[in-house]
Amino acid sequence: MTHEHMTEDELTDEVVRRLDATADPRLREVMQALVRHLHEFAKEVRLTDDEWLTGIRFLTDTGHMCDDVRQEFILLSDTLGLSSLVDLINHSDVESLATEPTILGPFYVPESPWRENGDSIVEYDDGGQATVLRGTVRDQEGRPISGAVVDIWHNAATGFYAVQQPGIQPATNLRGRFRTDEQGRYEVRTVRPVPYPIPNDGPVGHLLRDTGRHEWRAAHIHAKVSADGFSPLTTHVFDRESDYLDSDTVFGVKESLMADFVPGPDGVRVCDFDFTLTPE
Ligand code: BEZ
Ligand code: FE
Repeated sequence: MTHEHMTEDELTDEVVRRLDATADPRLREVMQALVRHLHEFAKEVRLTDDEWLTGIRFLTDTGHMCDDVRQEFILLSDTLGLSSLVDLINHSDVESLATEPTILGPFYVPESPWRENGDSIVEYDDGGQATVLRGTVRDQEGRPISGAVVDIWHNAATGFYAVQQPGIQPATNLRGRFRTDEQGRYEVRTVRPVPYPIPNDGPVGHLLRDTGRHEWRAAHIHAKVSADGFSPLTTHVFDRESDYLDSDTVFGVKESLMADFVPGPDGVRVCDFDFTLTPE
């Protein structure tokens, strides 16, 4: 490398070349591609000094908004479609008969209380519509899996998850772990989930507004399903009647994950949803 006037492309090549020394081949591949694409982006938009600084400030503010319960970087990844892209890259085997996965989201809290099949996860009544979510966990041959764990969490009728409202909702409201019975069945009494805006008081919310986007997610129930000998599944069950199915702000909706919440004679909605797991 000479220090005479360097072109833009020569600078990119030089940064990539220096990364040749990276011992871990995967780290080398990832870093060299990252540098190439980052430089290409700056060259394509002819990034100005002010824009570069605005970007640095945006990322700094995003970092300042990350702690144990708020993860603004994941929200950024989600709203840019990166989380869903990574999900597609790693889990879109169209031949598979398994339930499709989708993003985890920031509101998962591990170690939810164990509940019995048929138990309610409603610990705080804010007027949600009574609902039963039930189904069977199966393997790809359709055989029921008994003893599978179905870990459920979703939002209240106000739109908020328990973790977003400490002191208002009990911490374990609308969360629970269920174990499938001998026929592979689980059953959860709950309330119907509602569409909700993702947290919008940070840099990601500002960016959505500046780019003319809304901040709403289609109504869904989150589920993590696991069983010995099977790959764990992280997914959602979407309410087929929800708004925002076509424009979910984090690109998490998949047709196969939509289900009907059918009104029963007693006014309770019933949503039947089976999960199919793939072997480990
Ligand atoms: C959620 O579904 O809980 C969620 C996912 C991505 C961003 C915000 C919330
Ligand atoms: Fe959610």
